[in-house]
Amino acid sequence: MNTHSIVETARALTAPGKGILAADESHGTIGKRFAAAGIENAPENRRRYRQLLFQTPGFAETIAGVILFDETIRQRADDGTPFPELLARAGVIPGIKVDAGAKPLANAPGERVTEGLDGLRERLGEYTGLGARFAKWRAVIEIGEGRPSLHCLAANAHALARYAALCQEAGVLPIVEPEVLMDGDHTIEQCFAASDAALERLFRSLREHRVDIEAVLVKPNMVVSGARCPRQAGVDEVAQATVRCLRRSVPAAVPGVVFLSGGQTPEQATAHLNAMNAMPAPHPWALSFSFARALQAPALDAWRGVPSQVQAAEEAFAHRLRLVRAAREGRYSAELERAGAGSRGAGA
Ligand code: 13P
Repeated sequence: MNTHSIVETARALTAPGKGILAADESHGTIGKRFAAAGIENAPENRRRYRQLLFQTPGFAETIAGVILFDETIRQRADDGTPFPELLARAGVIPGIKVDAGAKPLANAPGERVTEGLDGLRERLGEYTGLGARFAKWRAVIEIGEGRPSLHCLAANAHALARYAALCQEAGVLPIVEPEVLMDGDHTIEQCFAASDAALERLFRSLREHRVDIEAVLVKPNMVVSGARCPRQAGVDEVAQATVRCLRRSVPAAVPGVVFLSGGQTPEQATAHLNAMNAMPAPHPWALSFSFARALQAPALDAWRGVPSQVQAAEEAFAHRLRLVRAAREGRYSAELERAGAGSRGAGA
């Protein structure tokens, strides 16, 4: 039974110095990450990998919540403890990805809409029984010739709003994620325009669907240059553009913004988050993280599925945890980044 209030969950997930670990990669996505590290994409390897992350010493000092995948919420640690229980015992809130992925959107060539609303009320009931207190739904928005279209933004905002309403009905905190992809040669100005339009449309839909915006977290992309853009915006430019974009569309009543990393390197994502939190003027919302790759990449690289590498992987992960914690408090630096590099184990 879910006896916690949704707002209490939002507050706990964005507590000072803390944030969210996204460990909800679908089988396809984790398969890509595993392939790059030479690991077979098997259920037992996925279980061992997630266990390594959740049992890293110091994990709960920085991680307030973990987004799980359907398989992971049903898996257990070596000693038989279900993962949601393992997390809850450490004071970490279990969450669940509930969307069914992005599918081609009819009448919008090259654009996608996220599916998964059918049966969602029943699935939310099952997931709360398994211990989930928050959920995530990701919409994917691409920049290109004539994209994003209004049609694509409206379709995705509609789905996000219906999902959020069902979550709140179930006593589950919804994280709404309209991700403008970094892929492409677009400029930071184009990313700003697309992110601005996506957020504006999203909050309009949330209100139309009677979602309580004081009881949601938003998980946006940062406003960055496209990965193949010849001019890459610097750290301060990204921080300024991102905060300006959020201020235009995210109501001050929203308790927190938990960024995705979206393909930035761990160092970039951490530096950008830090620069936003180091700004002198206070922000109306907590600015935090819900990273997957920017937290996990060095750990996965160190582990490579090899049992004797577990400690090296834990050290690499613990180092990133310390760094994002610093970024939440605006005290991250290149020196801190280098300080843990020596403890990453052989081959790092
Ligand atoms: P990245 O931080 O790797 O972008 O993943 C976050 C996430 O949950 C994407 O939905």
